[in-house]
Amino acid sequence: MSSHQTEIANPFTPSAGHMPPYLAGRDASMAEFDRYLRQETVQTNVVITGLRGVGKTVLLDRLKPRSQQAGWAWVGSDLSEAASVSERNLATRILADLAPVSSFLTVPVDADPGLGFSREPRGGQIDVPLGYSALEHVFEHTPGLVADKLKAVLELVWSSFSTTSKRGIVFAYDEAQNLADHAQKNEFPMSLLLDVFQSIQKKGVRFMLVLTGLPTLLPKLVDVRTYSERMFHTIVLDRLSEEESRDAILRPVKNRPITFAKDSVATIIRLSGGYPFFIQFFCREAYDIFVQGWGKGPLPIAPLDGLIRKLDTDFFAPRWQLLTDREQDLLRQVASLDTCADEFTIQELTGARPSDGSRPFTSSHANQLLLALCRKGAVYKTRFGKYCFAVPLFWEFVRRQARPNASPA
Ligand SMILES: Nc1ncnc2c1ncn2[C@@H]1O[C@H](COP(=O)(O)OP(=O)(O)O)[C@@H](O)[C@H]1O
Ligand SMILES: [Mg+2]
Repeated sequence: MSSHQTEIANPFTPSAGHMPPYLAGRDASMAEFDRYLRQETVQTNVVITGLRGVGKTVLLDRLKPRSQQAGWAWVGSDLSEAASVSERNLATRILADLAPVSSFLTVPVDADPGLGFSREPRGGQIDVPLGYSALEHVFEHTPGLVADKLKAVLELVWSSFSTTSKRGIVFAYDEAQNLADHAQKNEFPMSLLLDVFQSIQKKGVRFMLVLTGLPTLLPKLVDVRTYSERMFHTIVLDRLSEEESRDAILRPVKNRPITFAKDSVATIIRLSGGYPFFIQFFCREAYDIFVQGWGKGPLPIAPLDGLIRKLDTDFFAPRWQLLTDREQDLLRQVASLDTCADEFTIQELTGARPSDGSRPFTSSHANQLLLALCRKGAVYKTRFGKYCFAVPLFWEFVRRQARPNASPA
């Protein structure tokens, strides 16, 4: 890229998990996290929650080098649905995540050809590296339940890790709201994770859990194990303040030939509601508009309100189209409530005829639709049985969607 191109290249990153050019307003959260890196014995683990697009994944990315600087190794991944369906899948996930770190460690074992390790014996013992196959071997040969097997592996890794100069290991799991126990299938992966870490932490093993997910994550944890309330400290990520939003918008374009005028900044703050994803989105679009007009005389007055339409087609519409007609009807009903930006109840959605002329909902039907909407990630259920939109500003989009063939009131 020529320096001219670098100067005008668009710095904004409206895309899940992409580190923004400037991470605004998260210093306090990082300092809050640092406290738990200083624990002698791990008594508190960390949960990071917030709506979609608020910046959980990128914050987690930042916490990794911070933890490493503080002497912790860092392992972890995304908890997809597949990793979360069974206890065994979760255990396999953890072993696979741990192996890259543990493979630098060794444990002495009695030289026993039966084990199949091919190192030369040294005084009757050989040092075996703790790569994935060794972890798996210990896991499979430990008698008992999955929890016993996993504990045995983690304790073995710790027995070697604790002799290094490192402090401990952070186990970081993104999208942890995917974890759940499934009593009907007799699979309890969420309980497994909590029981195993609680048990080894009590024995002084310095392995710390950091879980991120939707705000429903902590209530879910507490539901399966009441001690979760004491086991986790929750860091809540929220929208950015006006000042922080301004930083997120202006810092990336500092010292560039193209920047945002005061009015544009105010408009972007207003339209984005301070939500990081939307700030990146509007900034990228507005910046592109400015670049096109650059060098052709005065900067164009950017039609920023038109950007809402772009956001609707690029971001909201694809999510909206995943919903059935009746799910959409229900969300229109939700969006018509004054309090929909906060939370809503089934009672508020049933009985009365919706103002858009669609058929009213029975409470069992509304319940069923809300479950489907939770599964699709559009809404989530709070601890107190109320519901919230999982995606910020979705309700504003829904209000913009007229019902097809709506009969005039
Ligand atoms: N503190 C922040 N300042 C500026 N932009 C941010 C900030 N946090 C996140 N972003 C941007 O917001 C978007 C969503 O971030 P992400 O971490 O994927 O959110 P989440 O994991 O909560 O869904 C990304 O485009 C990212 O670049
Ligand atoms: Mg994320």
